[in-house]
Amino acid sequence: MLRHLLRAPALAPALLAHRTYAGAPDQVTNIFKPLSTPAESVHRIALLTLAVCAVIFVIVAGLLIYAIVRFRRRPGDDASEPPQIYGSNQIELAWTVLPILIVVVLILVTARTIADVENYPQPPDALKVTVVGHQWWWEIHYPDLGIGAANELHVPVSESGKRRLTFLTLESADVAHSFWVPQLAGKTDLIPNRVNRMWIEPKQAGAYLGNCAEYCGTQHAKMRLRVIAHPPEEFARWVASQRRPAAEDQKASAGRDLFFSTSCVNCHAIQGTSAKGTFGPDLTHLMSRETLGAGAAPNTPEKLRAWVRNPQAIKEGCLMPDMQLSDQELDQIVTYLSTLK
Ligand code: CUA
Repeated sequence: MLRHLLRAPALAPALLAHRTYAGAPDQVTNIFKPLSTPAESVHRIALLTLAVCAVIFVIVAGLLIYAIVRFRRRPGDDASEPPQIYGSNQIELAWTVLPILIVVVLILVTARTIADVENYPQPPDALKVTVVGHQWWWEIHYPDLGIGAANELHVPVSESGKRRLTFLTLESADVAHSFWVPQLAGKTDLIPNRVNRMWIEPKQAGAYLGNCAEYCGTQHAKMRLRVIAHPPEEFARWVASQRRPAAEDQKASAGRDLFFSTSCVNCHAIQGTSAKGTFGPDLTHLMSRETLGAGAAPNTPEKLRAWVRNPQAIKEGCLMPDMQLSDQELDQIVTYLSTLK
């Protein structure tokens, strides 16, 4: 009996059959189009739960509508009460036992899915990534590759002939956050003084959109995340480009000097220089990113300038202050940042 219940997803109708979607990831966060193994598991049990709830809804609403129509008041009815029935053992047993059975089935199916995803063995060739949640951005490290990033997690895409899994270690530098990219996996919290793990296996190349899913302060909504899945050669090229130290461009020397003489350097790291701050994102390859401020604005020259001029205007309450730079200083800093490819 127990074994059968545990295997319920396999017995579910065609609606719930294992299915992979073709095509690129959506440009909105979408829970109905999984493109990664853990997200497919979550999707299957979500559909099972929805189907069970839909059947219950149709039965209850149908009986209700039937009773309203069939037994409505009609002209000529006498005003007497209908017969009152108390204490039917059969009916009470039925409406107690049936819901318990339904809930038990859903609990077992859910527990099985959670266990399958959480206990999935990490293959030796899995890519390992550490993600640290900050108010309000994502710090990303690839311990085996010796590179870091922010807000954009680059991973290889899994193909039918060669699976490529990415295992994430999730930590927090301040408060509780939650890593959620709906097309890739369920949510997992990033909790201070605790290490959580999860894994993803994107099956289509492209950019997957996600968001912090645990309220973490003022700019929780602008703590966006993208996971960019690359074919293997492209991923290798990205890794090589991120391994290079910061570009040294003569035309940016004034901005560089300014960067290192203001408090920029206290919060940001630039590899190959003395900037080692860890409070804000690593800027070594800033220009390789698609957005600024964890998705608060696209990474265009105008937005970069507006961001450095006053981040508070774009992401009010964020922990990068208005540096009160003059227009000339602003030009110099932005010129320097623009060389960090
Ligand atoms: Cu981080 Cu919400």
